Amino acid sequence: MPRLLPGLNYPVLCGRERLAPLGELAPGGGICHFHEEDSTAMYRNFSIVPKIIFGRGSFNQLDDVLSSRRANSDSYIVFVMDDVFAGKPLEKRIPLHGKDFLLPVNVDDEPKTSYIDKLVAQIKAYAPQLPAGIIGIGGGAAMDIAKAVSLLLTNPGSSADYQGWDLITKPAIYHAAVPTLAGTGAEISRTCILTGPEKKLGINSDYTLFDQILFDPELLAGVPKDQWFYTGMDCYIHDVESLNGKFINAFSMAYGEKSQELCRQVFLEDHADAADRLMMASYFGGMSIAYSQVGACHALSYGLSYVLGIHHGIGCCIAFDYLDDFYPTGVAEFRKMMTRHGIQLPRNLTKNMDQQSLDKMVKTALNLDPLWANCLGPDWKNIMTPEKTLALYKRM
Ligand SMILES: NC(=O)c1ccc[n+]([C@@H]2O[C@H](COP(=O)([O-])OP(=O)(O)OC[C@H]3O[C@@H](n4cnc5c(N)ncnc54)[C@H](O)[C@@H]3O)[C@@H](O)[C@H]2O)c1
Ligand SMILES: [Fe+2]
Repeated sequence: MPRLLPGLNYPVLCGRERLAPLGELAPGGGICHFHEEDSTAMYRNFSIVPKIIFGRGSFNQLDDVLSSRRANSDSYIVFVMDDVFAGKPLEKRIPLHGKDFLLPVNVDDEPKTSYIDKLVAQIKAYAPQLPAGIIGIGGGAAMDIAKAVSLLLTNPGSSADYQGWDLITKPAIYHAAVPTLAGTGAEISRTCILTGPEKKLGINSDYTLFDQILFDPELLAGVPKDQWFYTGMDCYIHDVESLNGKFINAFSMAYGEKSQELCRQVFLEDHADAADRLMMASYFGGMSIAYSQVGACHALSYGLSYVLGIHHGIGCCIAFDYLDDFYPTGVAEFRKMMTRHGIQLPRNLTKNMDQQSLDKMVKTALNLDPLWANCLGPDWKNIMTPEKTLALYKRM
């Protein structure tokens, strides 16, 4: 029998995930996960986004793409737009018709379940019928908000009820992604990461996947340099963790190697079409981890995020800079990228933290069994002890 690890608390699963009967789900929604070589292992049969447009200026085609969704004069589309674009030229280019609803969303904090519930109520109050589509325009946060809203318009209750795996029972409203930042892979993943009252955990389901992605590399213009770098490194780190993990397979390697090569071109070379390459790197990085897993850096960044509220991209960068022992080549190359772009990471973040908060951070990171199993193998608990984890955090 495959060996199963309990307590998964992270939205990305290994492609070799064993689909356990419901009774085997660990508290908190964990799916039994890591297994050794075994002919009875079951492989994930996963969905991907069915429709994709890629190209500079393709945003101009959004109206065309949505036209078939507008069945009658009461049909309306909700544009979930990162409020960074309020009053900017992009806002004016959004193809609004008749009863369409432009919904600016704020992403100063990573999305919370309470915020999703509020937005869903706002849309329900707007019109008696459900919208014909939800379009997420922004980075990982705005895309995650669009996914969550589209799910909660058709599934009753609070978004917090669905944090976990395959708890969603009804198909979402049609939803499409228009990324304006590249790196998270949120455009292709089957999750939307939410901070709820009890946990930070995604709504993982096939229904979460977008129906359409519109990649227009021109939309990356205007991203502040630091943010561009942090989100881009999220992708580079996905690749390093996937390619150096124990769960690696030819599927994940094919996507991860190409994504890493594109990241090198973007962050270590000069190319006029760097934005195009970064968008494809993000997509391929997402495809790579969809069938493998992330590792130590994501586990540690999760602790930073949960306890200190540090955002995903920068949190990954902060943690990665201390992981020479885990990913020597990747970390060395990451530092070259930082130097080339003059990036200074914040330091001494944990200096004044009390023991209780530090312990919570350690616990959060070590709860992520599959990430550590991918990084260090099934014996990881003997290697990555709480003391070692605490020592790493204390250096950050
Ligand atoms: N669903 C997934 O699979 C997945 C994976 C990784 C991360 N995430 C989530 O994604 C979020 C992080 O996403 P992110 O790194 O893309 O950043 P983000 O969406 O949080 O945006 C970061 C900042 O950049 C701004 N911004 C976005 N596009 C811009 C543009 N074109 N010009 C100027 N400013 C712009 C935003 O307003 C924000 O201030 C987190 O909430 C994280 O939990 C989701
Ligand atoms: Fe990530």
